[in-house]
Amino acid sequence: MCNDSVLSNVVATQKIHEEYGGVVPELASRAHQQHIVPVIHQALAKANIDKNQLSAIAFTRGPGLLGSLLVGTSFAKSLSLGLDIPLIEVNHMQAHILAHFIKDEASTKPEFPFLAMTISGGHTQIVLVKDYFSMEILGETLDDAVGEAFDKTAKIIGLPYPGGPLVDALAQKGNPKAFPFPIPKVKGLDFSFSGLKTSILYFIQKQTAEQPDFVEQHKEDICASIQYTIVSILMDKLKKAVKQTGIKRVAIGGGVSANSGIRAAVQKAEKEKGWTTFIPKFEYCTDNAAMIGIVGFLKYREGDFTDQSISAKARYNI
Ligand code: KG4
Ligand code: ZN
Repeated sequence: MCNDSVLSNVVATQKIHEEYGGVVPELASRAHQQHIVPVIHQALAKANIDKNQLSAIAFTRGPGLLGSLLVGTSFAKSLSLGLDIPLIEVNHMQAHILAHFIKDEASTKPEFPFLAMTISGGHTQIVLVKDYFSMEILGETLDDAVGEAFDKTAKIIGLPYPGGPLVDALAQKGNPKAFPFPIPKVKGLDFSFSGLKTSILYFIQKQTAEQPDFVEQHKEDICASIQYTIVSILMDKLKKAVKQTGIKRVAIGGGVSANSGIRAAVQKAEKEKGWTTFIPKFEYCTDNAAMIGIVGFLKYREGDFTDQSISAKARYNI
């Protein structure tokens, strides 16, 4: 980053998880360790700067898989010590929200207060964002995260990991009302996705018993129906949050905000309900370096640094 502008945003994807149908923590941390130095070299080369020009190093402290967080935390501490530059800790979920403050000529930044729905592989939350670092969770999932709902149902129908983007692609050619799945009744602004996964599993088992190639024959309709149900669950709660708070500035963030269904639904609500909406660019939806960088800049501006005693936190609330 140079202030709030992105100079480079290098992401190392971990192909290994596809083979196992999900993230294996041990393998994830090994892959982090292998990738971290080459990624830093690439990022500096793309930004066309030397390591001695760095003013600070920002890293993800949590939440997430501890093994992977430890790799990043240890590396950042070493770099801070080696280059004698400040160390800045970042909360991953705050970063998904604050990614909206990355400089972008094409879009305006949200004014405070605003509502943010963070939808990822590990979280599903509706957050009241009062200021950069003053956030309150208004509702969250009681079981699976929405990204998990996508990935687990994708697995049921034989799609590789992570299935979310594949469900999205197939859904675009299917009928969203082909197979109605139940919307769970959950109090307030909380969510639940585990029942949906089970009802889809039973539905597929029943249909396949009668017609063995059911999934093959109806893959696009199944995906469209799954996506429609998930988007309906998310939008119901988001509309409720707007009603409850009276705040019509609404942002989404996290990997699932790349989903075409949720993007379209949020845009529709903007037109129909007079919301002002903030939808991230694709490269800032799924996990990326720029979102950590913008938090680094915002904290650097405040002089909000951490010291070498810092440790990673697998559970870390915003
Ligand atoms: O934020 P993220 O990259 O990692 C976490 O912090 O968890 O989110 C990853 C999640 C995965 O579950 C992935 O399947 C989902 O985001 N995802 C999508 C799409 N792109 C990524 N889900 C549905 N449709 C998409 N287009
Ligand atoms: Zn994420």
